[in-house]
Amino acid sequence: MSEGGDRASILSDLNLRLVDGLRSKGVPKRIARAFAQVPRHRFIPDQVWDERGNEVKRSTALEDWYRLVYSDVPIVTQHDDGCEGGRGLATSSSSAPSVMAAMLDAAVVEPHMHVLEIGAATGYNAALLCELTGDAESVTTVEVDAALAGQARASLAAAGYHPRVVTGDGALGCPDSGPFDRVIATCAVSRVPEPWIAQTHDGGLVVCPWAPSSGLPGGLLARLMVRDGVAEGEFTRPLSFMWLRGQRGDHSPPHDLGAEAGTVRHVEQDPQPFLLNGAQALPLALMVPAWRFGMRGTPDGSPLVWVSALDSPSWARLHTDRVEQGGPRQLWDEFEAAHQWWREHGRPPATEFGLTVDADGHRVWLGTPEGPTWIHRVR
Ligand SMILES: C[S@@+](CC[C@H](N)C(=O)[O-])C[C@H]1O[C@@H](n2cnc3c(N)ncnc32)[C@H](O)[C@@H]1O
Repeated sequence: MSEGGDRASILSDLNLRLVDGLRSKGVPKRIARAFAQVPRHRFIPDQVWDERGNEVKRSTALEDWYRLVYSDVPIVTQHDDGCEGGRGLATSSSSAPSVMAAMLDAAVVEPHMHVLEIGAATGYNAALLCELTGDAESVTTVEVDAALAGQARASLAAAGYHPRVVTGDGALGCPDSGPFDRVIATCAVSRVPEPWIAQTHDGGLVVCPWAPSSGLPGGLLARLMVRDGVAEGEFTRPLSFMWLRGQRGDHSPPHDLGAEAGTVRHVEQDPQPFLLNGAQALPLALMVPAWRFGMRGTPDGSPLVWVSALDSPSWARLHTDRVEQGGPRQLWDEFEAAHQWWREHGRPPATEFGLTVDADGHRVWLGTPEGPTWIHRVR
């Protein structure tokens, strides 16, 4: 694509194609209309990275950049909080449009609603919120990274949107703009911050990506209705998001490193898929609290899955033919018991579970808040 010629109409066609794609994935009309009004390219910076980590620059690869911008994929816009010499952790992005649409759908944003977004990043979602509320003054977005907040403010203004963009820690909400009808977090949490609930009207919604901890197999979109200081509701779909700063994962070495096995169990079936298959690992993560996991190679070249508890020095090592465990919790036994319970109850998917957040903490349940429950004492 050249910068000259009928550029505006080419861009409009690209956006229409993106919107048609969203419609074909079942995105409701009102939300698709908002996407049609907001051209994504106006919010995406020059230097970005695709899902595989390839850098794409508008200034040197215009066509590739537009192709990426108008695809239904996440686009990474920052690593390591913008600092040099980090581990290369993606710390800001424009989420995949279909995922944004699912969040906006779950949040049921109506005209003139008072909305708080946590994680402004590019400002694209804030612009969509302005379209859905029809009223920029009722939208506030908070971004912890000052440089990103400045860019979001500038991109929003250049595109004709003027929501309140606040630089600060979104975990605190934004008390002087509240209370809100909707709090929508575009970063994941394991501990729903109390200010989000306190700053939401009774009957309002807190919509956020949630997982019991950040070292688990993915997360879920929680749609929580607030009543009398309690936030409660179902998980609407699996999804993974960058973490709220302040709740990012534990990167300390797992407890099993260098540890002698307390017990060894030889197993007939390879135990690794237990945790590597998301369809069963997510429910297990809801039923077995306080752990994280990962993979590493062994000296003989075969991979092992390690599990490390967050509440004690307990651990498990899953080889293909045996499981080793150590520490006060027998983690593998807990997984087996939870898995058996789950099978006996018809293998309910993670979306049949829900969450209650109140003064006592976080409680996951199956079916209804009165159903079977699991307490997550998140740190
Ligand atoms: C996936 S991006 C959000 C995408 C954004 N809504 C958009 O439309 O481009 C997550 C953002 O959350 C921000 N963030 C992380 N922790 C935060 C916090 N404590 N307060 C506010 N923003 C935070 C990150 O800096 C990052 O920009």
